[in-house]
Amino acid sequence: MQRRTDFLVIGSGIAGLRAAADLAAAGDVVILTKADPDESNTGYAQGGIAAAVGSGDHPDLHAADTIAAGDGLCVEPAVRVLVEDGVRYARELVEWGARFDRDPSGALALAKEAAHKVRRVLHARDATGREIGRTLWNRVADQPKVRVERNARATSLIVRDGRCVGARFECDRGTEQIEAAAVLLATGGAGQVFRETTNPAVATGDGVTLAWHAGAQVADLEFVQFHPTALNVPGAPRFLLSEALRGEGAYLLNADGERFMTRYHPAGELASRDLVSRAIVLEQRRTGQPVFLSLQHLDADWVRQRFPTITKACHSAGFDLATDRISVGPAAHYIMGGVETDLWGRTTMPGLFAAGEVACTGVHGANRLASNSLLEGLVFGARAAQAMINPKNIDQMFSVRTTPSRPRKTKTSWPKSEGEVRTLMWRSVGLMREDASLGAAESQLESWYRALEPYLEKGGMDEARWRLATIVTVGWLIARAALRREETRGGHARSDFPGRDDVHFRIHIGESKES
Ligand code: FAD
Ligand code: SIN
Repeated sequence: MQRRTDFLVIGSGIAGLRAAADLAAAGDVVILTKADPDESNTGYAQGGIAAAVGSGDHPDLHAADTIAAGDGLCVEPAVRVLVEDGVRYARELVEWGARFDRDPSGALALAKEAAHKVRRVLHARDATGREIGRTLWNRVADQPKVRVERNARATSLIVRDGRCVGARFECDRGTEQIEAAAVLLATGGAGQVFRETTNPAVATGDGVTLAWHAGAQVADLEFVQFHPTALNVPGAPRFLLSEALRGEGAYLLNADGERFMTRYHPAGELASRDLVSRAIVLEQRRTGQPVFLSLQHLDADWVRQRFPTITKACHSAGFDLATDRISVGPAAHYIMGGVETDLWGRTTMPGLFAAGEVACTGVHGANRLASNSLLEGLVFGARAAQAMINPKNIDQMFSVRTTPSRPRKTKTSWPKSEGEVRTLMWRSVGLMREDASLGAAESQLESWYRALEPYLEKGGMDEARWRLATIVTVGWLIARAALRREETRGGHARSDFPGRDDVHFRIHIGESKES
């Protein structure tokens, strides 16, 4: 294996692949990907990718919806970049061969999702991520300068004189390392930190752990999005029942068959995700019964044809999507926070870039608007590539926008299992948080973190130890920030502080290991 490359990309979802497509025109690229190259959150994305391409739409309208969903915390210059560049990059995907659904006139068929005021979601039935992945892989596979290292798990970054110059990784050949002029973290999300999640097994927040250990700044980690409608059947995986179902008219019903959502929010089933998730939990608590998603009032053939992937998954779990009421509930889905970056994917560490779900551009604020994540990976993956190729062309300085979290010290202890950590996160750092249980969880997580820290310093862990170490690290950082934020905003809900407090908390909480 070569020891040096021009550009190192860690991760092969939408952000890593979109970056690689441009980087390959400027130099040699190595992509490290820790499992099968198609295994990523991108590969499971259902509803679609939002972009203001429709005739009645405009980037200003898309920006307004994004900012409203973000609950007062979006970084507005980042939002402008997302919605304006988003149109160009979404069209480019179509030029590159993405087969999005079209209406009978041949125009792109645009779907509606919650908290979007207009139809603006491009989709490929209910497997949009798979189609985008196929398109980008075709583009990258054409490039002779790209080399893909599959089953190659990055476990630490190489830092020399304060600059990131490469990464160490585990692969079938053992422990190896590679140096590069610029390194991109595109490692995706962290849903696996929680017991109940829509995310696949690879989503363990590795990029946050890698960056934190290297000394880069992380931010906004308390903001976790819990998707309201994951399949809620004991023993079955928390398969996602896309928001596009509600966009097409699906109802949320309580056990008495009532559409209860309007009691909690005037937008009903199409309120933003944080509000729908909390309403479902409140309704479950009020009635002591499950909550259901129902498409029984829609045309059954149309439902099966429009949502074939979800139809199949429901069938495997013993339900008919079109004719049965399906028990649903919230599950960890997306993390708004991550490695702090500027508008060009630069982190606080020279040589280290981040894009996609691992990054925190601030574009989503406290709560991400549906279908803005694929767009973020596409836009900021491309921009990070430009900055990696021509760092001198970017004149703005990076200014850190965060205020530091409170440091605390505890003893060390060892978790019994990964399951113990994920259950603690779900129960005490999940959808509804409050001081006592959050504080106890934070202390517990810190003591686990302190026990695992030496292994993170040393690197070279086997897969099980690595999963434990990254889940504990990211879980602890989420709990710390959640404890500090004494208000309810977007994805962060505190039962002891039920209101939004703009006087004290219109801030981004962040920290680095060095701070
Ligand atoms: P990912 O696509 O997750 O890719 C991360 C890559 O990094 C993977 O290849 C992984 O193997 C690799 N990796 C991780 N750690 C390491 C390591 N240590 N070393 C080497 N490689 C590593 N968003 C939308 O906008 N629209 C949707 O319709 C939508 N639907 C979704 C449905 C589901 C079920 C899920 C889970 C998410 C959905 N999302 C959706 C969110 C969206 O899919 C993700 O946020 C987005 O795809 C993230 O892209 P990414 O490139 O940042 O990361
Ligand atoms: C979904 O299809 O509901 C997921 C969309 C998203 O995460 O943006």
